[in-house]
Amino acid sequence: MRTTQSIAIIGATGNMGSALSRSLAAGNYRLLLCTSNLDKATAMAEDIRKGNPAAMVEATDCTMEASWEADIIIVAVPYAAEKEVARRIREVANQKIVISIANPLNDTYDGLVTAPGTSAAEELQKLLPNSKVIKAFNTTFAADFATPLIDGRQVDAFIAGNDGEALQNVSELVSTVGFNPIVAGDLAASRTLEDMQLLLIRLNAKYDYNWRAGWKILHQ
Ligand SMILES: NC(=O)c1ccc[n+]([C@@H]2O[C@H](COP(=O)([O-])OP(=O)(O)OC[C@H]3O[C@@H](n4cnc5c(N)ncnc54)[C@H](OP(=O)(O)O)[C@@H]3O)[C@@H](O)[C@H]2O)c1
Repeated sequence: MRTTQSIAIIGATGNMGSALSRSLAAGNYRLLLCTSNLDKATAMAEDIRKGNPAAMVEATDCTMEASWEADIIIVAVPYAAEKEVARRIREVANQKIVISIANPLNDTYDGLVTAPGTSAAEELQKLLPNSKVIKAFNTTFAADFATPLIDGRQVDAFIAGNDGEALQNVSELVSTVGFNPIVAGDLAASRTLEDMQLLLIRLNAKYDYNWRAGWKILHQ
């Protein structure tokens, strides 16, 4: 069994941050829940331990210190806040895996704020040039974490990145929380993954399409 890895979850009390924290607590990870609302994160950590006394989970309001301690950093904040988060963690995130889950949606949820030919993940990589940015979880919904299944089969979770070892590590993390990891390509594939989620959201707005069902590529 591999050694326990520490994961800093920035934005841990948000929709995605809390879903990820609760699911990851079942794995062999030490979780550092980073938030500006320490009371809320402390209550969440206690609640996680109540359901799983073996869970290694701590709340902190110091994102930089937690990121310094962590092997993996999950940036679970709105895209607009990523520049500020990157500025805070840049010095301590060197050579570490940084997971970008963001969908850079505009205010009306019908377009992306990123320029053509780039993605939120690639922009984060530019801000953290010495980190291994991996795209993951942007095509899964916070609500899916409770039951990551469609018709009894695992929901697919797409991953993109440039570092093979980091992709392998994040694939294991994705499996731990119950999704089926699929490596979509290098970090530039994040453009497609972010477009895919925009499409789901637009179809839902137009046709009430069941976007909560997530993605499942059917194969024999
Ligand atoms: N919701 C979904 O189903 C879903 C699915 C896929 C991807 N995503 C992506 O996941 C990310 C988070 O979405 P969400 O729905 O979880 O949002 P959310 O519920 O609003 O939570 C975002 C968290 O970000 C933190 N935050 C905001 N500004 C910050 C800043 N300047 N510095 C540090 N932390 C900051 C807040 O934590 P504090 O309380 O500590 O400030 C907040 O709890 C977004 O990029 C979104 O595109 C969401």
